[in-house]
Amino acid sequence: MLKDPTHVVVTGAAGFIGSHLCERLLADGHEVIGIDSFSDYYERGRKEQNLETLRRDGRFTLEELDLVAADLSKPLRGAKVVFHLAGQPGVRPSWGGHFDRYVQDNIVATQRLLEALREVAVERLVFASSSSVYGDAEMFPTKETALPRPVSPYGMTKLAAEHLTFVYLRNFGIPATSLRYFTVYGPRQRPDMAFVRFMDALVEGHEIEIYGDGEQTREFTFVSDAVDGTVKAASADVVGQIVNLGGGSRVTINRVLATLEDISRLEARRKFLPAAPGDPRHTGASINVARERLGWEPRVALREGLAKQWQWFQETRAGARSMC
Ligand code: UGA
Repeated sequence: MLKDPTHVVVTGAAGFIGSHLCERLLADGHEVIGIDSFSDYYERGRKEQNLETLRRDGRFTLEELDLVAADLSKPLRGAKVVFHLAGQPGVRPSWGGHFDRYVQDNIVATQRLLEALREVAVERLVFASSSSVYGDAEMFPTKETALPRPVSPYGMTKLAAEHLTFVYLRNFGIPATSLRYFTVYGPRQRPDMAFVRFMDALVEGHEIEIYGDGEQTREFTFVSDAVDGTVKAASADVVGQIVNLGGGSRVTINRVLATLEDISRLEARRKFLPAAPGDPRHTGASINVARERLGWEPRVALREGLAKQWQWFQETRAGARSMC
């Protein structure tokens, strides 16, 4: 845990995990500069909603800028810790012409940030990497020492960015650590991700699109657990290390849907589509490094977390309807 209140920077502050992280850092007493480019991966309105609580806090400042093009010296001035969560997310859309955005926002943006950090005496850079770097892992639960072999262009760009942080640690001493998040869910989840899509289809009475036979597994991680591990990584003895953050619930997509039907008391209509290129068949995290080095333990089990996301989903839907 960061001991004293300090000045921290969060890139991707308006996003799903970034906005929760900023709230936690403010609650811990820190002064937070959020950076976000409001890229068009999904609509700005949702990101503005993510920022609502933050914007009411005088210790939060938002800088709207693109890491690739902007002069970062001012927003980084005096920063003690930088949490780098900004990037182009999404495994399945990273093919074809979209690839350029992944290169820009995941690789080039990280390189620009690292260059700027050569001039700033940060105590820690925490980089948000992804389970996608593993691809189709050979062993489960997968340890950080497994050979990463991404199966999507997205995963490949996240792995490249991880490597960049090591390049700058080795050559310029930037004290970086990379966290491999495993499919994070919870309130404010991105609209392209499975649970939000499933909930949307469920309430609209539409068919739920399942990529493949639904027997693929994911290690799902509730957002408050991901945030807690991220904060701990800012001060633990993990410079130069990679740390998996997995929620401890590895389940099939079919099982998720059955649980969601149970929680919502709605019946899902399922439509099975071909498996999506770029999706690994299974993910599963070994979290021993996080336990030992961060003193971290996931606390929210899938059913409880899914119920919390369902509640948030219904509240925001009701809010959106009353504004129409
Ligand atoms: C998620 C995030 O989207 C990535 O940004 C992140 O890097 C990655 O987790 C990670 O592990 O770090 P993904 O696991 O694909 O990627 O998360 P979801 O979009 O929630 O998909 C979960 C599973 O549901 C996948 O097997 C996917 O094929 C399936 N799915 C998704 C469907 O069957 N139907 C859908 O409509 C959406």
